[in-house]
Amino acid sequence: MEIKGLLRKIEPYVAGSQPAEKNIIKLNTNENAYEPSPAVHQALASFDAHQLRKYSTLDQAALRQALSEQLGVRADQVIIGNGSDDILSMAFLAFFNSEEEVLFPDLTYGFYKVWADLYHIPFREVPLSSSFEIATQDYLVENGGIVITNPNAPTGIYKPLNQIEEIVKANQSVVVIIDEAYINFGGETALPLLEKYDNVFITRTFSKDASLAGLRVGYGIGSPKLMAVINAVKNSVNPYNVDSIAEVLATAAVKSWDYYEDTCAKIMATRDWFSQELQAIGFDILPSKTNFVLVKPHGVTAGQLFDYLQSKKIYVRYFPKVERISDRLRISIGTQDEMERVLMTIQELQA
Ligand SMILES: Cc1ncc(COP(=O)(O)O)c(C=O)c1O
Repeated sequence: MEIKGLLRKIEPYVAGSQPAEKNIIKLNTNENAYEPSPAVHQALASFDAHQLRKYSTLDQAALRQALSEQLGVRADQVIIGNGSDDILSMAFLAFFNSEEEVLFPDLTYGFYKVWADLYHIPFREVPLSSSFEIATQDYLVENGGIVITNPNAPTGIYKPLNQIEEIVKANQSVVVIIDEAYINFGGETALPLLEKYDNVFITRTFSKDASLAGLRVGYGIGSPKLMAVINAVKNSVNPYNVDSIAEVLATAAVKSWDYYEDTCAKIMATRDWFSQELQAIGFDILPSKTNFVLVKPHGVTAGQLFDYLQSKKIYVRYFPKVERISDRLRISIGTQDEMERVLMTIQELQA
């Protein structure tokens, strides 16, 4: 029998695959190729399962305190989530409540459109320029809020902080979310803007720079006005949204950040080397300040290269349905050793 009422028609976000196959080079979801820090290993080894009998903390005070010291913000300006997807989803619910359209680029993190649809938020996808840049003037118009990933994904392109400030400054009657998932791979953070503007909300994740994608921890930082609303949303959806193990391990990660400075530096060096090598064989590479590159192959189509790499157990991301980048592949940056093997495999195909 037909179910009465309106069953929602939802077009979900399609996440990158997590193949179960062993011995692959996995460069399709921008995870970090390096180990979590020794302090994280140690915190996990000494975690007492007895603690799991109780619910996790409601406010992750220890993790927020560690982040407050690391970032130079007050602990009450920080909210922790089950990955930054959790934070972003709550931010959409908390901050976008007008009849006006929320603006974000046509090429950006694919989840924004899904949340806007899911929560009935009007939105407009603003085309990136022909060189895949976010054009500041496109965001100096009436709107119901703005979301900018900086550096952007899947392009990898970083927008300088003074241009981000121009957008924030011109839009003080709406909330501007800056998604800094990849900021620690060479960009300059928008955190200083928090001192001047109370309409900025910055989101971060432990999935990329901190090698903890599987732990599912992210956070948001904003003014007291914004924090009050997003905390109310959190307490209306899932108050215990961060598990006890995640809080302990993420705190250990923050307290051992020197280790991550080193692994991020390695990834950036490998990214720049890999980009130059691919350019030398005719590939077109967008300038990246992230842990991935968006490349247009030379001599073969993106689809052919994708299939060939997969046949050699190298997984990258291909977006055949996204017209503007259907001729490109997004390749996460692995270890130097992995990327040397990827380069050799590509060179073999070209030979
Ligand atoms: C731009 C951007 N924002 C947010 C996320 C979500 O990250 P997580 O939920 O793992 O924190 C991702 C993941 O790929 C991303 O690329």
